[in-house]
Amino acid sequence: MKFEDFKIMATASSAPDHVVTNDELATMMDTSDEWITQRTGIKRRRIATEETTSSMCTDVATQLTAQSDLTAKDIDLIAVATMSPDYLTPSVSAMVQGNIGADHAIAFDIDAACSGFVYGLHLVKQMLIANQQKNAILIGGETLSKLLDWSDRSTAVLFGDGAGGVLIRNTAVDKGSFISEDLRTLGNLGQYLTAGQTGNPSPFATDQQPFSPFFKMNGRRVYSFAVKNVPESINDALKQANLTADEVDCFVLHQANRRIVERIADELAVSMAKFPINIDEYGNTAAASEPILLDQLVKQKIIKRGDVIALSGFGGGLTVGTMIMKY
Ligand code: ACO
Repeated sequence: MKFEDFKIMATASSAPDHVVTNDELATMMDTSDEWITQRTGIKRRRIATEETTSSMCTDVATQLTAQSDLTAKDIDLIAVATMSPDYLTPSVSAMVQGNIGADHAIAFDIDAACSGFVYGLHLVKQMLIANQQKNAILIGGETLSKLLDWSDRSTAVLFGDGAGGVLIRNTAVDKGSFISEDLRTLGNLGQYLTAGQTGNPSPFATDQQPFSPFFKMNGRRVYSFAVKNVPESINDALKQANLTADEVDCFVLHQANRRIVERIADELAVSMAKFPINIDEYGNTAAASEPILLDQLVKQKIIKRGDVIALSGFGGGLTVGTMIMKY
């Protein structure tokens, strides 16, 4: 058995029912719809009430198998990109595997924050090759609301919850679907964006520092990092693919801030018409943002079979990941 290439067979997404508008946040903290809209492009976000990262990811995985000619038993690999798992163990992916009855699948989580989905595409591709396996589910899923300090207006207005994913098939039929990629990690800048800090309450620990699970971000530093590194990463991936930015049909970028997307479009000298946005509806959903947007674009037939798309994510780590593919 030898497979040679990869294809996205199905896309799906899931989000909590509860919608929180900017105006509602303005009743809870010193902020306004005008500030949030102008600085970020966000108008509202979905916030989990009963939903968890694993429940939304399970919904996505169920939709993915239902859309295909496969059953859960045909899935070989399940990977979930998340920075907000239900537990440190079991992994979200193992919970999904159990929930859908994918008895033959191995499962693991990926933590690369907002770059997690593209890092996941890379890893799933390599594992399908190495293991000579055929069918994988990759999901980006987040419940970022549980990592927010709701008294900190500088971060509480930015993030939202949701999940999105793809069913990937390793196939000898479709040639050249996953065309090129560029992954970067700048760990020396990691302290500009932290969340989920864990302390050590053990009686043997000598350094009992206070710790906080909440987001802390130097927004300006992350902004500068993104507008420099994302265009560089996209250009490097395009160069490897022997393509120009003009030849890309659609740029599916991480939805962190409308202004960042506009700056990246400007740097690449490509019309904003090729940079769809849904941050107004979802806020920043980290690893879930690109697969949720991808699913919307596929369902709206804005992305069609044969289109060249550039997926690019950036964020905590700090990390960047770009993948050029033929849909
Ligand atoms: N409402 C009203 N005022 C606010 C708010 C708010 N929600 N938040 C901050 N302000 C105030 C600040 O206190 C400051 O006031 P001051 O001038 O009196 O001190 C003023 O607004 C400007 O604050 P800045 O932080 O300088 O605002 P900036 O224009 O940089 O926008 C933002 C902030 C939106 C966070 C921007 O820096 C940004 O988008 N950065 C990138 C974030 C990002 O991309 N993260 C992605 C990774 S996320 C991940 O990996 C999980």
